[in-house]
Amino acid sequence: MKAVLPAAGWGTRFLPISKAVPKEMLPLGAKPVIHYVAEEAALAGCTDILIILNQSKESIRRYFEPDPVFEEILAKAGKTKELAAFRSPAELARFHFLYQPEMRGLGDAVRLAKDFIGDEPFAVLLADTVITGQSPLGHMLQVTAETGRSCVSLEQCPPERVSRYGIAGGVADAASGLYRLDAMEEKPALEAAPRLRDAQGAVLAPHAFAARYVFTPAIFPALEACPPGRNGEIQLTDAMRTLLREQGFYGAPLAGKRLDIGNPQGLLEAAALFC
Ligand code: G1P
Repeated sequence: MKAVLPAAGWGTRFLPISKAVPKEMLPLGAKPVIHYVAEEAALAGCTDILIILNQSKESIRRYFEPDPVFEEILAKAGKTKELAAFRSPAELARFHFLYQPEMRGLGDAVRLAKDFIGDEPFAVLLADTVITGQSPLGHMLQVTAETGRSCVSLEQCPPERVSRYGIAGGVADAASGLYRLDAMEEKPALEAAPRLRDAQGAVLAPHAFAARYVFTPAIFPALEACPPGRNGEIQLTDAMRTLLREQGFYGAPLAGKRLDIGNPQGLLEAAALFC
């Protein structure tokens, strides 16, 4: 199983530190945020992880690649514990790297993974978001394997934040605990936002896409056909809507909490929970 971790965003909410340190490399204790994300993918069975970077984020690559020279120095010095910690990022999975040439949006970043993925379902984990408690990924991979439909994790979203996220509409499927989605909108106004309904048809609070996705390979032709959307960027949500129409799409409610570390407040919250 393969996973894609988009990590090519500018990190403007973290300036000035993001000028030199990618937001994904900010620490939660002794490990950077992206370590936890890669670990989550590995625990869900992903053996190959592709990280989408830009040229200013080389430190991510350095973090996940082995460094035989320094490993030998540690080994010769008998520093067994330090050696294990030093090796631990590279041991999570096989890592691959690709560079997004232009900032053309999340959809464009995922599109770059086409040749790496080939013709099988795969996971996407946004590298600036950690999840507390049980990761939804294992269940989502199973759902896609069994149904041939893609799946996105969902989290209830306060009304004032609806315009910051992708928002899902659909109806609860009591048997599976999932939602069968019938609408998706990227960063809508609250009044225009689609809504989930429970099995009896009652309308629920808004639910946002929560940084974890499992796609069938049909996402690639959908992305190729996608014109630039909001902000002139290729929006992943627009291509997801094609899959929704053509194959159906599931939403998986998060058991834990999504912590977006793309801003200083989110990082502090995550540090309190993860360190
Ligand atoms: C992206 C997606 C959005 C999703 C969000 C958090 O937005 O486009 O649909 O809800 O991640 O998972 P961004 O934060 O990159 O603007």
